[in-house]
Amino acid sequence: MAVPMERLRRRLLGPLFDRLGYDLVPATPDWAHRPLSQPEVDRLLDAATARLGADLEAAGLAGPPDLSALVAEFWALIPNAPVRQRRGGSGFNGALQLFVLMRVLEPDFVIESGVFRGLTTWVIRQARPEAAIFCHDPDLSGLRYRDARARYCDRDWSAADWSGLDPRRTVAFFDDHVAQARRVAEARERGLTRLVFDDDACAHRIHAHGGPAHPTIAMVLERRASPEPIRWQRNGRIFEQPAADPLLRRAARLIARAHAFDDLHRATGYAPARLTYVQLHPESGA
Ligand SMILES: C[S@@+](CC[C@H](N)C(=O)[O-])C[C@H]1O[C@@H](n2cnc3c(N)ncnc32)[C@H](O)[C@@H]1O
Repeated sequence: MAVPMERLRRRLLGPLFDRLGYDLVPATPDWAHRPLSQPEVDRLLDAATARLGADLEAAGLAGPPDLSALVAEFWALIPNAPVRQRRGGSGFNGALQLFVLMRVLEPDFVIESGVFRGLTTWVIRQARPEAAIFCHDPDLSGLRYRDARARYCDRDWSAADWSGLDPRRTVAFFDDHVAQARRVAEARERGLTRLVFDDDACAHRIHAHGGPAHPTIAMVLERRASPEPIRWQRNGRIFEQPAADPLLRRAARLIARAHAFDDLHRATGYAPARLTYVQLHPESGA
């Protein structure tokens, strides 16, 4: 942030917002803060590599031949990200996981639902330079990175015609605050089986999310054999997710395997990520 703007924030705008009950903070991305001494850089990258390796295995995905080189590539790349964001979108950890997943899954087509400023589009482009990317978001007014070769659309992804895509060469990434069980059903209807979700919250942590995409993947899996509804409170409002919700039941039948990646906070010190990889049954069980 330019020095005069930072002065203005500290002296005038910050105290004003504080009195109104808000925090005014600069949109400095978390990766702007980083270790500089080599032993600490190595330790951070080694810890992230170890966690990612364990997660890829648990997700049933064959890791790349040299995962540590991939993590080091991302470390060098991320300071060049054209989007500066502190809230509302991915930070270092989520971006790293998405980068690694895209390299491992090697999609030729990527459907991105929930674009916001465009950071994750940029990450996908860095990982898959030749891929066709389809970006869906009802509000594209906040874009800071517009990919020259991506196709942008402000309609829901489920309204688009995907008959031209080969589902085996496609990955869908959902970061759109829409019920994740619904996205599972929609993906399966279009033949897609490889999905990545952001903000997959467990039932006991869902209260911490604004606009949670419930039922989330974790809720679907937690309640597939239990009739107990999930209830929580946020900002004074009571929420309930019935376990008997037909959507939840249907998604549970469609998911072959799901793995929530480690949040990477212990490894890197950056804000926790919440990415989950979901593999659907190739044939609909619904
Ligand atoms: C968390 S942000 C996406 C952040 C972005 N992926 C990143 O990490 O930088 C969620 C976005 O979902 C969008 N959204 C809301 N409803 C949607 C829908 N039906 N389809 C696609 N995007 C939607 C919102 O407009 C918002 O931009």
